[in-house]
Amino acid sequence: MTIQHNVSLKEFNTFGIDAKAKYFISVSNKQELIEALQLPQFSEYFVLGGGSNMLLTRDLEIPVLHINFKGKEPVFASSDFVGVEIQAGENWHEFVLWCIEKNYGGVENLSLIPGNVGTSPIQNIGAYGVELKDVFSHCTAIDIETQEEKTFTLEDCKFGYRNSIFKNEAKGKYIITSVVFKLTSSVHKLNTSYGAIQQELESNNITNPTIKDVSDAVIAIRQRKLPDPKEIGNSGSFFKNPIISKAEFDILLQKHEKVPHYVVSDTEIKVPAGWLIEQCGFKGKRFGDAGVHKNQALVLVNYDNATGAEILALSKKIQKTVLEKFHITIEAEVNVI
Ligand code: EPU
Repeated sequence: MTIQHNVSLKEFNTFGIDAKAKYFISVSNKQELIEALQLPQFSEYFVLGGGSNMLLTRDLEIPVLHINFKGKEPVFASSDFVGVEIQAGENWHEFVLWCIEKNYGGVENLSLIPGNVGTSPIQNIGAYGVELKDVFSHCTAIDIETQEEKTFTLEDCKFGYRNSIFKNEAKGKYIITSVVFKLTSSVHKLNTSYGAIQQELESNNITNPTIKDVSDAVIAIRQRKLPDPKEIGNSGSFFKNPIISKAEFDILLQKHEKVPHYVVSDTEIKVPAGWLIEQCGFKGKRFGDAGVHKNQALVLVNYDNATGAEILALSKKIQKTVLEKFHITIEAEVNVI
């Protein structure tokens, strides 16, 4: 365990915000984590994973606990499935590439999502028709107060759209230390129903895709649409896609007959926030170093030296405009600190 003082967090958050941590504690195994949680001088912690779903709007006075556990290993196997335990500090996309190399199927649609494995269950990451919950077996976590280890099963996690128990009743109470995934090892169940994947495969003349083909297709789509955080700071989708009632949707449809949407249930419709934001004229707009990405209006970007407060102000302006124009509230998906 190492404790550093006044550390810039610029390299530790994908938005590239230069906030400072008064204390920065990096832990690489359970023993170190427990020791850190028992340090007498501290009573609360800011838990940092891959820093891919947060907007830092201030310096942090409370100690930052950087979860840097590494390791990937198979833990169970049957004729069709393999269970792999991945430590929380592993980079998500590197884990996906490792699966492709080993011929483990299930996470190929989730290629190139920024962040770490340990934070992936918190918001049930998802893309191109697949969510983490589809491959999740269980995860282990340390109770911050008692330092006891607890296992969360799929059921315990109460996964929903960009949601889980870790955003609700378990919020701030646990640190996830590893995640076990149940992946296919012989017959893969590909999910290529998402229009963009189909088009990408077709344009490459692939009729019988492998998991690598699907992963490559997702990588190509994402690289075209979404900015690489290494080049332009961002946190992926800044907002969640709002779910509105069928009655509200019918009113929207009267004015905008081409509105893209997904039917959630008989009474609920999900509308892409990116479309709403684009209709409000924000797509590609830049305000100082803060901006709205030119290819995907759902993504706010830091061109260089924007502060968290500037990005937050832009997000509020967008929310207000969308509310005025469409009477729809869009909520932030990233955690604003
Ligand atoms: N759209 C626009 N303008 C835009 C962006 C989107 O009109 O600027 C329209 C598109 O034309 C399309 C619809 O909105 O008809 C949906 O767009 P897209 O397929 O890009 O998906 P999304 O709903 O905007 C969600 C996830 C993404 C994920 C994609 C693909 C959320 C909040 N976001 O975006 O996740 O990659 O689907 O599955 O659910 C992330 O969470 O960081 C993320 C990137």
